[in-house]
Amino acid sequence: MPSPARRLSSIPPYLFAEMSRIKAEAIARGADVIDLGIGDPDQPTPETIRAALVRAIDNPETHRYDETPRGWMPFLRAATDWYTRVFGVTLDPATQACQLIGSKEGLAHLAWAYAEVGDVVITPNPGYTVYKVNALMAGAEVFETPLRVENGFLPVLADIPSDVARRAKLFYICYPHNPTGAVADERLYHELVTFCREYDILLVSDMAYASVTYDGFRHPTALQIDGADEITVEFHSLSKMFNMTGWRLGFALGNADAVATLQKLKANLDSKQFPAIAEAGAFALNEVDNRGTLNLYQRRRDRLCQGLREIGWKVPIPKASFYIWARVPTEGMSSAQFATALLERANVLVIPGNGYGDAGEGYVRMSLTLLGDQDGERFDEAVRRIAASGLVSPTTAGLGI
Ligand SMILES: Cc1ncc(COP(=O)(O)O)c(C=O)c1O
Repeated sequence: MPSPARRLSSIPPYLFAEMSRIKAEAIARGADVIDLGIGDPDQPTPETIRAALVRAIDNPETHRYDETPRGWMPFLRAATDWYTRVFGVTLDPATQACQLIGSKEGLAHLAWAYAEVGDVVITPNPGYTVYKVNALMAGAEVFETPLRVENGFLPVLADIPSDVARRAKLFYICYPHNPTGAVADERLYHELVTFCREYDILLVSDMAYASVTYDGFRHPTALQIDGADEITVEFHSLSKMFNMTGWRLGFALGNADAVATLQKLKANLDSKQFPAIAEAGAFALNEVDNRGTLNLYQRRRDRLCQGLREIGWKVPIPKASFYIWARVPTEGMSSAQFATALLERANVLVIPGNGYGDAGEGYVRMSLTLLGDQDGERFDEAVRRIAASGLVSPTTAGLGI
């Protein structure tokens, strides 16, 4: 058997293997595990979108290869129209948008399209691991910007050495942020656009959670900044917006050269998404408001955060994303030790923060997308079990904010 390519060795070991093992054992014992680990909408895709897919399947035109240059045109038009309605920015669907088989695919392939040996790619720590792993596999060096609580989990551009910035080709950011739930403001986007223009870096803004916001909050975008489209590409996803993770549909928007470069690589890798899915995605973007699901997450967020605060674990309340990012509440325990102890003692699964980078050590992530929960009652149960586990120590509780 030939050996796999050396580049595969840059993929870090799967940090959650031990947790998966303990979870599987608990389930095999018949334990009722509350899994706050998975960031995958538990609610079904709205019925009207499913009906749109059925209609699209009945059109034989969707049964063939999509031979368009950047994706199914009704979908790209729906994406840019949605963007104009929500963010007030007008983009050309024919040249400034590109359809993706989920945003993960596009975020990963962009690194392959731009980065090579000798280049630097800037990524967030903690962060979604896809940016870093693909930059490393493509042969680039990765410079990680630590996201710290005292800076609102935003990157500090003054801390990036100028020789790193000069060699950097891509700067990945993600707000609303997975895993911390942090949000960005116009000031940060303004700084990033200025920085990337100065150093000729492509700003890659992952907005998979752009629509997952609460309390009427609306997240800004990088492309709203004057001149941003010279050096910015944004990645959007229908996954979290419309409970469509399994459908695999997303889009990139922004700088026309970046979109064309990504598509040049993709044209040699895939033959686009099933057009019927793109057609149903266009319907979703044009017609569907998924507020009902967001309201459910908001009620769960309130029940979980309030409950944890009442038992002494002072967790922050996110304005966006469906993640609670909280300091480990047990004195002397690492993220992994706490997560393991909680699973063993309370059958509650949380994700150790260091799984998203070493700057995540000392934190855990809890997701609001809990399969089987109706209206927050499973979150009340999780709080009861966490309290009974004895793992929330009064000396360290309160560090979360
Ligand atoms: C930060 C972030 N970006 C992108 C994605 C990819 O989403 P999709 O490929 O389903 O569009 C995810 C998925 O969990 C994510 O958390």
